[in-house]
Amino acid sequence: MYQDNKIWIGSAGSKKVHIYPKMANRHGMIAGATGTGKTVSLKVLAESFSNCGVPVFLADVKGDLSGICKDGVENESLAQRIDALGLMEEGFCFCGCPTTFWDIYGEKGLPLRTTISEMGPLLLAKIMGLNDTQTSILSIAFKIADDEELLLIDTKDLRSMLQYVGENAKEYTLRYGNISTASLGAITRALTALESEGGELFFGEPALNISDWFSTDTSGRGMVHILDCQRLINNPTMYSTFMLWLMSELFETLPEAGDLEKPRMVFFFDEAHLLFDNASKELLGKVEQVVKLIRSKGVGIYFITQNPKDIPNGVLSQLGNKIQHALHAYTPSEQKAAKACAQSFRENPAFDTYDTLLQLGIGEALVSVLDESGIPTMVEKCTILPPQSLMSTIDDGERERQIQNHLLYVRYSQTQDRDSAYEFLQRKFIADAENEQAAKEAAAAEKQRLREEAAAKKEAEKKEAAKNKQIKSAAKSVASSAAGTIGRELGNTLGSSIGGKFGKKLGGNVGASLGRGILSTLFKK
Ligand SMILES: Nc1ncnc2c1ncn2[C@@H]1O[C@H](COP(=O)(O)OP(=O)(O)O)[C@@H](O)[C@H]1O
Ligand SMILES: [Mg+2]
Repeated sequence: MYQDNKIWIGSAGSKKVHIYPKMANRHGMIAGATGTGKTVSLKVLAESFSNCGVPVFLADVKGDLSGICKDGVENESLAQRIDALGLMEEGFCFCGCPTTFWDIYGEKGLPLRTTISEMGPLLLAKIMGLNDTQTSILSIAFKIADDEELLLIDTKDLRSMLQYVGENAKEYTLRYGNISTASLGAITRALTALESEGGELFFGEPALNISDWFSTDTSGRGMVHILDCQRLINNPTMYSTFMLWLMSELFETLPEAGDLEKPRMVFFFDEAHLLFDNASKELLGKVEQVVKLIRSKGVGIYFITQNPKDIPNGVLSQLGNKIQHALHAYTPSEQKAAKACAQSFRENPAFDTYDTLLQLGIGEALVSVLDESGIPTMVEKCTILPPQSLMSTIDDGERERQIQNHLLYVRYSQTQDRDSAYEFLQRKFIADAENEQAAKEAAAAEKQRLREEAAAKKEAEKKEAAKNKQIKSAAKSVASSAAGTIGRELGNTLGSSIGGKFGKKLGGNVGASLGRGILSTLFKK
């Protein structure tokens, strides 16, 4: 409950225990076994931040946070708690918070989308489970898209880009480094898997404009953004990478803030162990880094988990505000974890931390926060306040009303598909194919033309040759008959002068062949 510029989370006897908005960007943790009251504590904190004018983000893993948009309803156990804490005299009221529902699948909230290029090759490679070689090839594809001014918005943009890079791999390998087609194939297969897990919906436009999250309602209350993660959580890698992207996006968007009177925004990750389970060392390192750096941008992150040991040490040591509900300690390893947990608190001489930790009731917790000068307070055993909003969930009809009546509905509900790499390359593929076809047809036509030309030439030569042959044979026969006549006459003349019949006959034949020889030589020319 927000009161006197402080967030009142619970009471230790008559002592109120607060979180100071000024220190709320020093992050926090809500831990405890199942059913001990973590989700309710989360709600109490989230409502209070909203009432203090701080927008809140909730990753709703179990689907049990939607009630925050509605006023709470009193029941017997709530009435008892209200009474025990003397809340009526403190101005406690049942009231819901201004809420925006988001869902990357667009079913249980406004579609929360981002673009492939905003996600970037490294986080995308993590989501797709690519190895180092594949990751570097994916980065090259991004670089080529950048250099050629091709927008990578949705998964079909990336798919076309990979295809395009593959078709021109030889050329690009020379300029950007080795691009193996086998790796491109593996990336394309991973992309198909990502699409079937919701990537097709998640990557697109309108992309989330994170500044839309920093809104308050007309009375100055911070908007509570609930991201439905029930389906997303089925793919823990995607869940953790997505959350990391969100935090990185915030980190990059927000300017350095120094020490603010209250945070700009607070994130709550319920079932946070899912963020860290199976996460690679690299991803963990990145989460640790973001958690460390983001507080200077005025963003607080609160992890909700069963056991503090679920949170990596590098992250755990950054969490200044701690609400620890009861832990079981039945097995030796549970006892060890509970001891470590108890030792992490600044001791209170009034009670034994370890023993108390094991005996806490539902809705009770060990609490230590950072005081106004940033020093962890002595641990207190608190009864946590009840939530002001609805403890249970809303039904689908109410959720649908909340979504459709939201101011951002018009901006985000419809997918846009503007001209990007896919459309450009599609046109290029078609144009290239048409050009190729036209070139093929032109080449075939030219070949045909040459063939016809050659055939015509051959025909003409043939005709010419036949004509020449005709002339030659005509000339030959003329020559031959002319020579015969001349020779014969010559022979006759010669013969008759040589003497007698014999001489006449011989002279005729010799003369004729002699004359024919002379003339045919002449006509050859
Ligand atoms: N601060 C509280 N005020 C009122 N009831 C609470 C409180 N904390 C827990 N409870 C009760 O305990 C139940 C379980 O709490 P919940 O927060 O869902 O547990 P967890 O998230 O640790 O599994 C709630 O449904 C509610 O009835
Ligand atoms: Mg819970």
